[in-house]
Amino acid sequence: MYDYMLGGKDNFAVDRQAIDQLAELIPEAVPLARANRAFLQRAVRYVAAAGVRQFLDLGSGLPTQGSAHEVAPEARVVYVDHDPVVAAHARALLGGARGSGRAVCVEADFLDADDVLDQAGRFLDLDRPVGVLLVSILHFVPDSARPQQAVAAFRARVAPGSYLVISHATTLGRLEDEERARGVSRGSATNGGADRTPAEIRAFFGDFPLDPPGLVQAVDWRPDRPKLVGDWSLPSSLMAGVAKKAS
Ligand SMILES: C[S@@+](CC[C@H](N)C(=O)[O-])C[C@H]1O[C@@H](n2cnc3c(N)ncnc32)[C@H](O)[C@@H]1O
Repeated sequence: MYDYMLGGKDNFAVDRQAIDQLAELIPEAVPLARANRAFLQRAVRYVAAAGVRQFLDLGSGLPTQGSAHEVAPEARVVYVDHDPVVAAHARALLGGARGSGRAVCVEADFLDADDVLDQAGRFLDLDRPVGVLLVSILHFVPDSARPQQAVAAFRARVAPGSYLVISHATTLGRLEDEERARGVSRGSATNGGADRTPAEIRAFFGDFPLDPPGLVQAVDWRPDRPKLVGDWSLPSSLMAGVAKKAS
């Protein structure tokens, strides 16, 4: 579904139908997904420019449409997704003609930080800084699944100099629309979830200091072009930030 929203070709008819339905209800859904992907790309470039050469992308979806290994061609990347269909397609994409050998996908639940880090540690050097991406994923996880504990485990286990990159839907959005959207996505890989307040989102960074400009609307995080007219019509519902573990 997400690949279709980003304009990719790695999707099924059922994905396209669900998103066409979603776009009828919430016209901002597709521009918002693209704004999220654009944030991911700016954040990966920013972290790579700081010298980080490895990324752990948690809840990655399919590694297409400008994913981390495409944006940071000198880095090694581990994509993590718990959906077996996503993982199988990701392996085919990364191992096939489009593959670079620098990126792999592991099928795992990011809520099990020990398992993810064990698997990722076979491909990445976890004694060195890593960019941990939690981009448009935490709002699919309710508090009852204890995402706060999982993210704290990643913060504790990564090396100093590592970065945490988060984008997250917030309660500043239009709740009624979000309820209807959940109706459309129910039964998909990413049903359920929790929009959180800016303070709750900030708490995922723990004691890592946020790099400027802090936790802001995703479109306002270090924009690399002037805002276009359509950007102003995006609802204020996706916050984003990047923080670094002190060296
Ligand atoms: C909206 S996509 C986000 C894609 C990507 N992070 C981005 O922002 O461009 C969410 C993905 O997270 C995956 N996912 C959801 N819960 C997960 C979990 N507990 N562990 C690993 N992956 C998960 C879903 O299968 C889906 O592919």
